[in-house]
Amino acid sequence: MEEAIIVGIDIGTTKVCTLVGRIEGEHGIRILGVGIEPSKGIKKGTIVDLGAASQSIARSIEKAQRSCGLEISTAQISLAGSHVSSVNSRGVVAIAGGIIDEHDMHRALEAAQAVNIPHNREIIHVIQRGFIVDGQDGIRSPIGMHGYRLEVEAHMITAAAATVENLRQSVESVGVSAGSFVLNPLASAEVVLSETERNMGAIVCDIGGGTTDLAIYIDGDVWHTMVLAVGGDHITSDIAHGLRLPIEEAEKIKKQHGYAIKDEIGEDEFFNVRSFGSDSAAQIPRRDLAHIIEARVEEIFELVLQEIKRSGYDGLLPAGMILTGGTSLLPGIRPLASRILGLPVRLARPEHLVGLVDQLHSPAYSTSVGLLHFALAMNESLVPARGTRFASKGGSSNWRTFLAELFRKIMP
Ligand SMILES: Nc1ncnc2c1ncn2[C@@H]1O[C@H](COP(=O)(O)OP(=O)(O)OP(=O)(O)O)[C@@H](O)[C@H]1O
Ligand SMILES: [Mg+2]
Repeated sequence: MEEAIIVGIDIGTTKVCTLVGRIEGEHGIRILGVGIEPSKGIKKGTIVDLGAASQSIARSIEKAQRSCGLEISTAQISLAGSHVSSVNSRGVVAIAGGIIDEHDMHRALEAAQAVNIPHNREIIHVIQRGFIVDGQDGIRSPIGMHGYRLEVEAHMITAAAATVENLRQSVESVGVSAGSFVLNPLASAEVVLSETERNMGAIVCDIGGGTTDLAIYIDGDVWHTMVLAVGGDHITSDIAHGLRLPIEEAEKIKKQHGYAIKDEIGEDEFFNVRSFGSDSAAQIPRRDLAHIIEARVEEIFELVLQEIKRSGYDGLLPAGMILTGGTSLLPGIRPLASRILGLPVRLARPEHLVGLVDQLHSPAYSTSVGLLHFALAMNESLVPARGTRFASKGGSSNWRTFLAELFRKIMP
């Protein structure tokens, strides 16, 4: 029996996570292989030491291969970092035959890509946000409609070509070819965002170690994306500086005693810690720790709020924020985010997982699991960038062929 296998490598600032999945039925993915490895040589979502990063990636891939007994040849790669930027554009084409077909839709999307992109940037995604036929807007799928002029509203995501090349090289140096790159928040959204939220208007926020990844969904499509170069590592570093602790100790303290709202911590709560230059453990008020954390978390969400306002969609998010990523595990973060943003905030993690999934139920793995789900969704709603193959809009009947083309089959 023919099997569709997909592989995703989430190259994060804290960990590299390789997942091997088998597509079962139309929307189910069974996780067959998992390889989680602490990441080295990656800061704020970008590679700063190619050798170290390649090693972490190699180890993660090797673990995944061992756990499923398959050899990985091609994978989807997650992408983040402040080098990523996005722009909305419009493509217009004339319809010769009077009836719009798939080819016309692709021509319109190609036309939308005809904006000036500097040679040092690479187009990662071109996402359709809606079509306009003869001036009538709000059309989701124009195929089969009559019209003479087809316009598409597109959201285009670009990244620094050199950074993408470094990622590609680090994966290919270990013998795996990089299938396509997926922006972190788009992958996360595939597992945390509900259909209702996506249609009503919501923002996905994945706070990891080095980046905060945002994606705004309205009317079912992506309208805005952004990657901010701040995350949980900044909280840890603030704690290390504030309490004069080694980074590893600060990280441990953050996870054990951290809280995002200072005023909710009693004055009688203390914890023990051994700081630099002292032989014995000192008692520190937990409130002081919460104070340090609150200041940084507040700053992160103020940046997020600024970004939402800058997008111009701040009044269009009734479903609020879906918060995920490792840092969303910080107790108290949800109410603090809600207060700063003035939006309802929901915590989310990958759910309904099947297979080898014991470790994957944490919000830290939303992007990792999302990468696999993205491969399925891509066939329905996204068109890869110029120069690569178009995803067919023909529906589910040919997803298998499409995936088979995109990810070379894995040999047992
Ligand atoms: N219980 C916890 N409380 C607070 N922070 C936590 C907790 N558990 C994990 N974190 C933080 O989550 C962060 C890691 O999250 P995640 O695994 O999503 O990051 P990543 O994907 O490797 O990085 P990025 O996506 O930013 O490149 C770290 O900063 C870690 O300290
Ligand atoms: Mg991440």
